[in-house]
Amino acid sequence: MLEMHGITKRFDAVVALKNASFEVRPGEIRALLGSNGSGKSTLVKVLSGLVNPNAGEIRIDGNPVKINNSQESRKLGIAVAYQDLSLIQSMNVIDNIVLGMEPTGRFGIVNRKQAEAQAKKVLERLMVDCRPEELVRNLPPSVQSMIEVAKAISLKPRLLLLDEVTASLHHNEVDILFNTLKDLKKDGTAIVIVTHRMAEIYKICEECTILKSGETAAKGKLSEMDLAEIVYHMTGKRPDAVTQAPCNLHETEKEERVLEVRNLVILPKVKDISIEAHKGEIIGIGGLEGQGQSEIIRALLGVNKPTGGKILYRGVDSKFKSPAQAIKKDMGFVSGDRNKEAIFPIRSVAENLYAGKTTKGALFGYLGPKQINGFALRAMNEFNIKAGSLKHPANSLSGGNQQKLVIGRWIALAPELLLLDDPTKGVDINSRREIHKILKECTDAGMTVIISSSDNSELLEVANRIYIFYEGRVSAMLEGENRTEEKLVAAMMGLVSCETGGEAIG
Ligand SMILES: Nc1ncnc2c1ncn2[C@@H]1O[C@H](COP(=O)(O)OP(=O)(O)OP(=O)(O)O)[C@@H](O)[C@H]1O
Ligand SMILES: [Mg+2]
Repeated sequence: MLEMHGITKRFDAVVALKNASFEVRPGEIRALLGSNGSGKSTLVKVLSGLVNPNAGEIRIDGNPVKINNSQESRKLGIAVAYQDLSLIQSMNVIDNIVLGMEPTGRFGIVNRKQAEAQAKKVLERLMVDCRPEELVRNLPPSVQSMIEVAKAISLKPRLLLLDEVTASLHHNEVDILFNTLKDLKKDGTAIVIVTHRMAEIYKICEECTILKSGETAAKGKLSEMDLAEIVYHMTGKRPDAVTQAPCNLHETEKEERVLEVRNLVILPKVKDISIEAHKGEIIGIGGLEGQGQSEIIRALLGVNKPTGGKILYRGVDSKFKSPAQAIKKDMGFVSGDRNKEAIFPIRSVAENLYAGKTTKGALFGYLGPKQINGFALRAMNEFNIKAGSLKHPANSLSGGNQQKLVIGRWIALAPELLLLDDPTKGVDINSRREIHKILKECTDAGMTVIISSSDNSELLEVANRIYIFYEGRVSAMLEGENRTEEKLVAAMMGLVSCETGGEAIG
């Protein structure tokens, strides 16, 4: 149904798409893959009318079309769920969904009642856990992502494009979404999924197209392409150079205890949580969405106030009143919700990288551009951040590169305890391994890391010990040989027995 040929898009000096081609058929679920900055979101935006290509042809049902704006895109039956959500934070859930609806009345008048009913139906279908009257800004990232998808689906498109919508979704939400997509596929909808979670594409997609530096590097059936081959097309490097098994986790000697959380209560989400972290450990926190993970991390930082229990940091009862205090005491924090919490979108890449240093307050008054650029360049190289120039605003970077920017900033500060909340959300498979490697090097050098992740493979790859949260308690702690996918999933569902879990705590 859709064909794209010779698509080229330049942003000043940056070539985002270079003679790219793409196609998808009705009733097909196709993965659009590629490293961070390879042009996936740009391709999606060409189809949604947000980006006008410099060259190329788009055909729908064989007929050439021009997509100059989002209205034209919608008229062609195209709907998009964007990587950096299109929701308006100050509006409620229903209004956000209805906002996208085309007029249904005869004279171009929106039939609001009908639109609302339709919106509620999609929310139910996707089992979105929110009140329709709630303001979007009050909802967690995963729920916002689900609403973004609901909004796209409610338009009943012929072509549905999902740009990294699963990046902040948890296991259970991904399942619900995929079931809905399978239904849509049966009805003949063409679906395109952009994701860096490779396990997911094998679950739901039949075909894939791989972009590399804006060019279409490969396309084909997933049944005939293993992960090593995909990584090869993404990077141009032979798999053995990049996809070796993650470095082995050495079990750390449990020397100094850096952090001890004792019977913490933060109502309503956290009921009784105890965890501890020793110097040099990477501690994973897993679980379904909303089991208290974010609350704990924010309590450590002094954002959330516990209603019971204790937090001992370096052996001392810590009662930080704000993140600034925690940061002064050598804590660092990376949030996966970079739009809200981490990035200064219109400040330059260099300033973003440097921002952490200034927050820490360890510097003298005047910062010369030389100093800032020198620091930023080193961080860019170390984390392989792809940006047109250090001077470009941070929001001109691709999603994954923005996330690397945030992580790079904090690691460069070498905190004693680094808290990571879904840090590699949207980061491509190679960069993720790079980041994991760097985290391991940092912990070898004595840093302690606590990483909460919605992605099980990340926890299994990087954490020495994994605490799994279930309904505000720790349902299992997995370490050593107990760190397996099945045990992790069982504990996430709250199904723990001596055989399935590690030792159950609390
Ligand atoms: N508005 C813009 N201005 C300048 N450069 C841009 C703009 N939008 C995208 N780019 C650049 O185009 C390239 C492709 O970006 P794009 O967002 O399409 O990548 P992506 O494949 O979606 O990456 P990711 O996996 O990180 O989301 C990047 O180098 C990015 O910096
Ligand atoms: Mg993108």
